[in-house]
Amino acid sequence: MSSLIEMRQISKLYPNGVLANDRVDFSVERGEIHALVGENGAGKTTLMKILYGMEAPTEGEIWLRGQRVHIRSPIDAIRRGIGMVHQNFMLIPSFTVAQNIVLGREPLDRGLVNYTEALRITEQLSKEYGLKVEADATIDSIPVGMRQRVEILKALHWGAEILILDEPTAVLTPQETRELFTAIRKLTERGKTVIFITHKLREVKEISDRVTVMRNGRVMGTLKTAEASETQIARMMVGREVFMVVDKPPVQRGGVVLQVRDLTHIAETGHVRLRNISFNVYAGEILGVAGVEGNGQTELVEVLAGLRPATFGTAMVDGQSLLNHTPRKVRELGVSHIPEDRLTYGVALDANVAENTVVDRYYRPPFTRNGFLSVGFIMEFGNGLIRQFSIMAPDASVPVRALSGGNMQKVVVAREFSSQPRLLIAAQPTRGIDVGATEFVHQQLIQKRSEGCAILLVSADLNEVMSLSDRIVVMYNGAIVGVFPDAQKVTEEELGAYMLGLKKQDPAEMEAYL
Ligand SMILES: Nc1ncnc2c1ncn2[C@@H]1O[C@H](COP(=O)(O)OP(=O)(O)OP(=O)(O)O)[C@@H](O)[C@H]1O
Ligand SMILES: [Mg+2]
Repeated sequence: MSSLIEMRQISKLYPNGVLANDRVDFSVERGEIHALVGENGAGKTTLMKILYGMEAPTEGEIWLRGQRVHIRSPIDAIRRGIGMVHQNFMLIPSFTVAQNIVLGREPLDRGLVNYTEALRITEQLSKEYGLKVEADATIDSIPVGMRQRVEILKALHWGAEILILDEPTAVLTPQETRELFTAIRKLTERGKTVIFITHKLREVKEISDRVTVMRNGRVMGTLKTAEASETQIARMMVGREVFMVVDKPPVQRGGVVLQVRDLTHIAETGHVRLRNISFNVYAGEILGVAGVEGNGQTELVEVLAGLRPATFGTAMVDGQSLLNHTPRKVRELGVSHIPEDRLTYGVALDANVAENTVVDRYYRPPFTRNGFLSVGFIMEFGNGLIRQFSIMAPDASVPVRALSGGNMQKVVVAREFSSQPRLLIAAQPTRGIDVGATEFVHQQLIQKRSEGCAILLVSADLNEVMSLSDRIVVMYNGAIVGVFPDAQKVTEEELGAYMLGLKKQDPAEMEAYL
């Protein structure tokens, strides 16, 4: 019997000369969950865009259900039962969930869209697969995890038999990831087939039946997941041994760099997002912030980075107030910020790599001299960072838009690490980047710490928080509910209990350790 999908000797040469896929063979069986992994820029998204008709292959053949096909557009792919949920979502923000789901296949009543029926369809699909959505809410008012569920339901409404998910868990909380996995299992029980791209090898092990590893546009092999270890997959991806444990020297704590007292933020909607937050970050230490996403971590980071106003309270860096300044002024005070939402705050897609690496400093020497931008120097600087951070780009003159998702993020990380900060605020610094680059970012964080930089690390990945931090605080419902002065001594279970609000320390007792 032939496979459900067979991509044979697929090559893709982009007009800019990048060979993103190089004679790729890839096959998927009906009803399986097939993980697709590989370093940033390995060609995963490109291969899936070809299957979904968004990019035409330069060479090669696609066989579907035993027949040679030419998939000419996404509409064509959908007609053949292939749906794709992208790394960057493609929904209409001002439409409701139900409107987005039925868009293009609306239930009609005498020529008009029957919205009641659209709501019913949405609710029925949502129930069937256990993907919770608010049918009547507009897309711009719902969290990112729900947007993703909307995309999946939309593909299912369109009759997808094969569902391609491009890094679906990169934007999800651990809880949402578990729910997604339950839904994926339901899908395959109903005979559907799922192709799943991820950088998290733990997820590969947990959810997939088989895994295909790509490197540099080529397929390195396809393995039965049960027979492969995480280390083995990582080695195949990167071509060398990857150390998934962080090696870090003992902490050499200096003076206070960041001092936050009673910081409170009330959103425009009247919701209290930060409640009297107080803590210090010292030179040479990493303070980790753990918490289920949505408990104030984002607001904390954004208030400190000058992206949101503080309602009251203080925050000082080296004795100077940080609050209610522009982001530029905050940077001038010695603060670097790796934003969690890198596509919104991190990069300008149409600007080139070099420009993106100097957006925070182009107006100062040596980038500007005598009032003139030193274009040659900026380009050189960008190229230097490309080499130092192994950013996969031909050179610094290419627009960031032409980079793979993970390489866009590396541009931001490179810029923020290269600015000699006193305080580095790192929000989800390794989200969406591959295992090799994650190892590199972790080493860089440790390096900055050794140089005496104060680091505030916010991550939804508990393993990351636990392995990098010297001290850990847990946020719940906008407040700090626990502090662990020695990160080595706390367990995942213990942190989990605080994160879920089941445990809480006495504020008076916490004070000495904050
Ligand atoms: N539209 C485009 N034009 C030119 N080059 C592109 C384009 N899209 C991707 N590339 C290049 O093709 C290569 C493969 O990119 P692709 O997005 O497929 O990687 P990926 O494996 O999905 O990586 P990531 O894990 O970072 O998302 C990269 O070198 C990228 O820079
Ligand atoms: Mg990709």
